[in-house]
Amino acid sequence: MQKEKIEGIRKQFFVDLETAGNEAELFDLEKKYLGRKSEFTEIMKSLGSLSAEDKKVVGPLANGARKEISDAIEVKRTALRNKGFDFESEKIDITIPGNKRGAGHLNPISLIVNDIQDIFTAMGFEVSDGPEIETEFYNFDALNIPEHHPARDMQDTFWLKQAAKNKKNGSEERLSMRSQTSAAQVKYMEQHTPPFKIIVPGKVFRSEATDSTHEHTFYQFESLVVGENINVGNLKFVAQEFFSLLFKQDVKVRLRPSYFPFVEPGFEFDITCTVCHGKGCKACRYGGWLELGGAGMVNQNVFEAAGYPRGKYTGFAWGFGLERLAMMKYKIDDVRLFHSGDLRFIRQF
Ligand code: PHE
Repeated sequence: MQKEKIEGIRKQFFVDLETAGNEAELFDLEKKYLGRKSEFTEIMKSLGSLSAEDKKVVGPLANGARKEISDAIEVKRTALRNKGFDFESEKIDITIPGNKRGAGHLNPISLIVNDIQDIFTAMGFEVSDGPEIETEFYNFDALNIPEHHPARDMQDTFWLKQAAKNKKNGSEERLSMRSQTSAAQVKYMEQHTPPFKIIVPGKVFRSEATDSTHEHTFYQFESLVVGENINVGNLKFVAQEFFSLLFKQDVKVRLRPSYFPFVEPGFEFDITCTVCHGKGCKACRYGGWLELGGAGMVNQNVFEAAGYPRGKYTGFAWGFGLERLAMMKYKIDDVRLFHSGDLRFIRQF
């Protein structure tokens, strides 16, 4: 009788054991089969009332089954704890070379900005910046740009629907995506007293149709050097030094008279073509020169807008297109590639 009962419990236990899927269930199972109120405990207790002969048979049988059950529970418990951790397949061979993870690439614009910053900081310049959303004051008024100048027009400047409060007189002021890094000039001058020399690399925005040489969003880098005796010779020298270091060759600078409201005199700024060194080639359309942007001596009206006394300081400024430089340096033939997000392009740098 007892014998069959023990065998029955044992069998049922192994069926139940299969269904225990976690440690809590296993704990319940243990309680059910080996706990104080379990059938098994009852049997063990009843051993005393058996005949000496039966005891000899049932005793070892009961003890054996009990041990078997408790061992099986321990094995299962360990298995459950290590579940999801298959030692065999998780074995790590530290001699196998690792998987290479792509580290990403810097956009050539970032590369050239880094180069420019290195060169200028070595020359004692400070790198400054300004917000990409700028008030009409800093982007235009402070730069002596007349109210009806076409550059303020809808076709060139992206105007925002929101307006800002003018710091000085509290009036409503229009906001734009800055159309030139020159917008950082007066902002910087309001906070600093000359002498100083800064560059401002950054993004600018213009409402333009795009083609292989035009983008609505592009980079410029501004330079502003102000002191008591700064002259055009300084402008030319600093620029020439800089471009020669950037392109690792002797670069010549050419200034052609031009007009920008915030400089007087103002210039169009050219350098000798870095491909043919001025002889004329496809890259410079056989002219030998590359046009990089505007430059000039800071207009006294701009100093006045910044709160400097008229006539006390002189300074030079320029604003060059960065894409043009990166295109020359890295031999890129379409400006739209910079912002294309095309990895085949980026991976080449
Ligand atoms: N801000 C001018 C432009 O974007 C360039 C410039 C900068 C001209 C500084 C003169 C002095 O066209």
